[in-house]
Amino acid sequence: MKKIRVIHGANLNFTGLRDKNIYGSEFIEDINQQILDAATGLDMDLEVFQSNSEGEIINYIQSCHYEGVDGAIINPGAFTHYSYAIRDAIDSINFPVVEVHLSNISAREEFRRISVTAPVCAGHIAGFGGFSYILGLHALNDIVG
Ligand code: DQA
Repeated sequence: MKKIRVIHGANLNFTGLRDKNIYGSEFIEDINQQILDAATGLDMDLEVFQSNSEGEIINYIQSCHYEGVDGAIINPGAFTHYSYAIRDAIDSINFPVVEVHLSNISAREEFRRISVTAPVCAGHIAGFGGFSYILGLHALNDIVG
């Protein structure tokens, strides 16, 4: 069974409460349930983690390394646009990471069009709401041996 982890970064716990026109009206709990259901269908051992703290996200990525995780999905939230520390953490582990976003960051404010984390990820998917995570899981399923 593939060990897959989903990492939600800053403010993602407020999904469903924050700007619904941008992030949709689904609550994070509903999105997590859909992720877990999709993982069951793909025969994955999946855990979901959320933190608003950069250091905790880095610690979690490093713990995934020690646990022998096969792949991860990450939505770093606003850390996407400036966290060289999370970028370095992703760069230093040897399992593939797929970056996902609820909103289409390429079509938003200029500062959101830059992702400093995407270049060290296997690929990125943005703009499909909670479905971005499901697409990411399928992509991981394909690339994880
Ligand atoms: C986000 C996009 C980021 O720009 C923003 O800061 C978020 C959510 C998304 O999923 O669309 O918090 O990562």
